[in-house]
Amino acid sequence: MDKFKIVGGTPLSGELPVSGAKNSALPALAACLLSDEPVTLHRIPQVKDIGTMQTLLAHTGARLSDTDGKVVVNAKSLDCPEAPYDVVKTMRASSLVLGPLVARTGRARVSMPGGCAIGARPINLHVSALEQLGATITQESGYVEAKAPDGLRGGTIHFDRITVTGTEDVLMAAVLARGETVIRNAAREPEVQDLANLLIKMGAKIEGAGTSMIKVQGVERLHGTEHAIIPDRIEAGTFLLAVAITQGDAVVTDCNPEHVAALTIKMNQAGADVEQVGPDALRVRSSGKLRAVDITTEEYPGFATDLQAQYMALMTVASGISFITETIFENRFMHTQELARMGANIRIEGRQAIVAGRERLGGAQVIASDLRASASLVLAALVAQGETVIDRVYHMDRGYERIEQKLAAVGAQIQRVG
Ligand code: EPZ
Repeated sequence: MDKFKIVGGTPLSGELPVSGAKNSALPALAACLLSDEPVTLHRIPQVKDIGTMQTLLAHTGARLSDTDGKVVVNAKSLDCPEAPYDVVKTMRASSLVLGPLVARTGRARVSMPGGCAIGARPINLHVSALEQLGATITQESGYVEAKAPDGLRGGTIHFDRITVTGTEDVLMAAVLARGETVIRNAAREPEVQDLANLLIKMGAKIEGAGTSMIKVQGVERLHGTEHAIIPDRIEAGTFLLAVAITQGDAVVTDCNPEHVAALTIKMNQAGADVEQVGPDALRVRSSGKLRAVDITTEEYPGFATDLQAQYMALMTVASGISFITETIFENRFMHTQELARMGANIRIEGRQAIVAGRERLGGAQVIASDLRASASLVLAALVAQGETVIDRVYHMDRGYERIEQKLAAVGAQIQRVG
């Protein structure tokens, strides 16, 4: 199993290019199932989860080609509208094919995702929303079976709590449902907007994506198109924090500064200097000790839960005490024990982590528990004295493209060892 070996202490400098967004590419690939014409997607990141989604689409009968991030999906014939357990157990976002498959073929059989390191993460809201659109749903032997032989019909959906993939799943079903669908308390994430933009290019009728109320007028069918995926705001945020924690000076390029505004505001309050230096570029500089600043994770446009662990790494070496409150997932502090192995001083009280900043961290052997926790350990290792060995970096490969090459290019002493 691959590990990262990192020697800390080098201020990062240069350019860090951001790839396409994993969490936008996943629903975009699923959306290709909605049309019998080819769809071409650009800036698809070369990460493991994308490979898994491509395997899943091929399993349903779609044909795919992938050349350096340009993916063409031809879902002309879908003879197996199913997401098998073996695929879903490796990536819960596989449940994103539920809506498109039942909308396009009249049925779908999708394995239930099961538990995850960061929380229970059920898909009950996806299921009840699809029932609102007229699907008959049964659960058997760990699978959700959805049927709508006469097609779906529009309806009004109110999500009891905001769900990103739930909104995406239902949006993809509603575009082929007869009549109007209204989605209330919808997720406003940029990835939801990007999906809506793709669907509109395919001929869908959607209003209000990016707001908490989305209206959809169903259409008979969708046609093929070409679409470039938005930049990965979580990768951009991870890079901004990596430069700040090493007291470096670098430019994060090919990103959307607006999408990381909640983070850059906090970083500037902590004493870093993050400024926009182009339509898609942010310069980050940090010299000297940063101040402790509290955060609370929220749905977009609030502070992203997917940046909580990386931000915590920064606070472990800031001066003062910071309070980090996690409101989205019930078990997203797995990284704290590993940071403590590097000398961090963190106390957990329910959904809150209380971080007392230390003068410095020390290298150690640590284990990654999930995608964003692994990023937080890489950041801590970049500032720690001596060598850190991070095990199970396969977690990081799920969502970061060529991470060690990108960091090494700005001076990080990082290497992957088999
Ligand atoms: C998406 O997950 C992202 N994944 C996650 O990123 C991200 O952390 C999350 O949104 C929140 O921003 C993708 O886009 C592929 P939710 P999702 O449904 O859609 C509860 C990463 O690191 N809930 O918005 O699965 C749920 O348990 C990943 O890239 C239900 O109770 O998250 C959670 O507490 C990790 N029932 C909350 O809602 C449901 O049916 C929000 O989850 C659905 C969700």
